[in-house]
Amino acid sequence: MAGHERGDSPSFSAIVTRRQALGGAVAGALAVSGPAGAAPAPRDRFVIGVAAAAAQTESRNGRGRSNWDVFADTPGKIHDGSTNARCTEFDTRYATDLDRLKAAGVKAFRMSTAWPRIQPDGPGAPNQAGLDLYARIIDAMLERGIDPWVTLFHWDTPVWAGNFLSRDIAGRLADYAGIVTKHLGDRVKNWITFNEPGSVALLGYGSGEHAPGFKSPLALVSAIHHQNLSIGLMAKAARAHLPSTARLGTTHIAIPVRPETPGKPDDVAAAARMHAIANTAFLDPLFGKGYPDSFAPLVAPLVKPGDLDTIATKFDFLGVNYYARLYVRGVPGPVGFEVAEAPKVLPRTAMQPVEPDGLTEALVWASERYGPMPIYVTETGFALRGETTWDSGLKDQQRLTWLDQYLGAAARARAQGVDLRGLFYWSATDNWEWAQGFAKRFGLIAVDPATQARANKRSLARYAALVRKHFPDV
Ligand code: FCB
Repeated sequence: MAGHERGDSPSFSAIVTRRQALGGAVAGALAVSGPAGAAPAPRDRFVIGVAAAAAQTESRNGRGRSNWDVFADTPGKIHDGSTNARCTEFDTRYATDLDRLKAAGVKAFRMSTAWPRIQPDGPGAPNQAGLDLYARIIDAMLERGIDPWVTLFHWDTPVWAGNFLSRDIAGRLADYAGIVTKHLGDRVKNWITFNEPGSVALLGYGSGEHAPGFKSPLALVSAIHHQNLSIGLMAKAARAHLPSTARLGTTHIAIPVRPETPGKPDDVAAAARMHAIANTAFLDPLFGKGYPDSFAPLVAPLVKPGDLDTIATKFDFLGVNYYARLYVRGVPGPVGFEVAEAPKVLPRTAMQPVEPDGLTEALVWASERYGPMPIYVTETGFALRGETTWDSGLKDQQRLTWLDQYLGAAARARAQGVDLRGLFYWSATDNWEWAQGFAKRFGLIAVDPATQARANKRSLARYAALVRKHFPDV
C-alpha cells in the first residue's frame, strides 16, 4: 500500500527472529530439500522482476466500463484531474516497454488481466479479443525471456459485477478466474490471485480515497470478508484449470503498524486495531487460523457456514507488498483510530516515509507467523519528490539509493530465515497512480502521458545489478 502514512504494532514488535540453518544467500543458491533419499530439486534463481497493473497502464479501448472509470470520471476524485482513458497505452505499446526491460536484464514481469476486458458487459462467455490481447502480451514476454507473472485481480471491476459490499461478487470473480486460467494457463507458470485486499478495504471502503469510494466502518468490514471469500473461490476455480506445474499464490500487504506516540495507551490500542484490520483479518483466515479475536465479532454477522473453510487456502507462495510502515493514533468513537503522520525524522518519497527496516520486519513477521513458505516481494518502489515532469526523473539517483537500502533489508530477512525467492520493483513505467493520477511516478521507464513518449531512467540500467549485489544467486 502506498500513498499513506503508515508504523510498531504490539504484534510486530514482539517478533522473535529466527536464524535457520538454511538461511542466507548461500543456502538460497543451493536447493530446497526433496523427498527423503531423493536428490534435492534445483531451486529457481532469485527473481529480478518488475510489476504493473492493467488498470494503471492499459487504455480503456476494447474493454467494458470499470469501477475506476466511474471514480476517475467523477470530478474531484483524481488529484491532478487526469483520467485513466489512456494510462500508458500498454495494450498497444507493450512491445517497446518489454524491449527496454529485456535490454536491462529484467527477468520477470508481474502484470494483471483486466476483468472488464475479459467480461466487459456481463457474466458468461468471455470477450475473445481480450483473451487474445493477453495471449499476445504474454507471448511477447516469453519471446524476450521475461517470465510473465499474472495477477488475476488488481482492483479493476466491471461495473456490472458490483462491489465488495455484496458476497455475490465472490462467485463472479471465481467465474472470471476460471476463464482466464483456462485460456492462458498453458502459457503462464506463476499466478497471483488477488492484489492487496487490505488496501482495497481501507482506501475503497473505509476512507473513500479509492474506488468505489465508500466511507464507512460497516462497508470496510464487508469488503474484508467478501474479498477473503473471493480469494478462496478464485483459487479453487484457478486450480481446476491450471496444469499441475503452475504455481498459484496471492498478494497481501504485510504492514507494520506503529502508534503515533509510543507508549500512549490510546495510540497503542489504535495500532492493535489497525494491525488486525490491515493484516491479520486477511492473513489469519487465509492460513486457517480464522478471524483474529478482536475482529471476529465485527464480521460474525457476515460469515456463513463453510466460509472459513473456503477462505483457508493452500497457496504455493505468498506475495508481500511493502512500501513503509503505517502510523496511527487513537480517536474517540466506534472506529477508534485514524492514520497519523510518520515521524518527521524519516526521509520521504513523494508518497510515504522511507523505512527499509520495516521490510525486514514485515517479511520476518509473515514468515514467523504463517510460514515457512516461499515468499516474493511482489511490489516495492518509490515515487520521487519533484519527479513531476516526464524527463526530470531520468537521473533518478535517489531511487537507486533507496532501492539499495530496501534490497539490503530484503536480504537481511532472508538471512534471518525467510524463504524469499524474488522481488518485483513497482513499477516498470511511470503509471496512472490511481487517485494520484500521473503526478506520482514510480517507473524505471519514464512516460510522458501527453505524448506517450518513453525514456529510460538511470535506475533501469542499474536495477538488475543492484538485485544481484544483494542476492548473488540470481
Ligand atoms: C500499491 C498498489 C499498486 C500501486 C502501488 C504504488 O498499493 O498495489 O497498484 O499503486 O501501491
